[in-house]
Amino acid sequence: MDQKELKRLVGQSAVAYVKPGEILGVGTGSTVDCFIDALKDSGIDVPACVSSSVRSTKKLQDYGYRVVDLNEVDRIGVYIDGADEIDASFSMIKGGGGALTREKIVASVSDRFVCIADASKKVDVLGQFPLPIEVIPMAVRAVSAEIQRLGGEPVLRDFTTDNGNKILDVHGWKIEDACAWEEKLNQIVGVVTVGLFAHRGADVLLLGTDEGVKTFSR
Ligand code: A5P
Repeated sequence: MDQKELKRLVGQSAVAYVKPGEILGVGTGSTVDCFIDALKDSGIDVPACVSSSVRSTKKLQDYGYRVVDLNEVDRIGVYIDGADEIDASFSMIKGGGGALTREKIVASVSDRFVCIADASKKVDVLGQFPLPIEVIPMAVRAVSAEIQRLGGEPVLRDFTTDNGNKILDVHGWKIEDACAWEEKLNQIVGVVTVGLFAHRGADVLLLGTDEGVKTFSR
């Protein structure tokens, strides 16, 4: 099966985790787009969604879903989102689509994070995919210098986030202790969000493989 088909499969399988009548957290990306399509086809009653990006908000609203601001909500039961890489401890690299900050915020108030990914995203060690770091625009140079001091090679993405910030994609790191890296990088002044989701990793991984969707829980 090609990657597109695997994304469609996991998107469909995530619908089983949606609780009818509950507000749903929705991530961002091509896999999440497949999930939103499958959700619409399912006809499940979702009273409202909290979205992690302008892109997902638009898609949800086009399908008639109500999208509410996170400030109107205390907790979210289930958050469904993709990943760029995920390791055996369910730590992830996210932000390939640039939505890492809102994704991390929504994930932080969600009881259950269901990660949907095709098999190519499952890795032994995080870091083959460049780590996205959202940075305040005036701090790009200063944060880049600090990243280089830590052995990384930052590349400025030609992109502005939904929050008006820039993204540095960092090459060259092998991230074995993801929690420690997340803490260390969060300390750099000018960093808004690190695309390492380790302290709040996934709870369930639905992995699209040639043998079908495999479910892993922690
Ligand atoms: C968006 O910013 C990312 O965190 C996505 O969740 C991640 O890039 C996965 O995207 P795809 O589903 O498009 O591979």
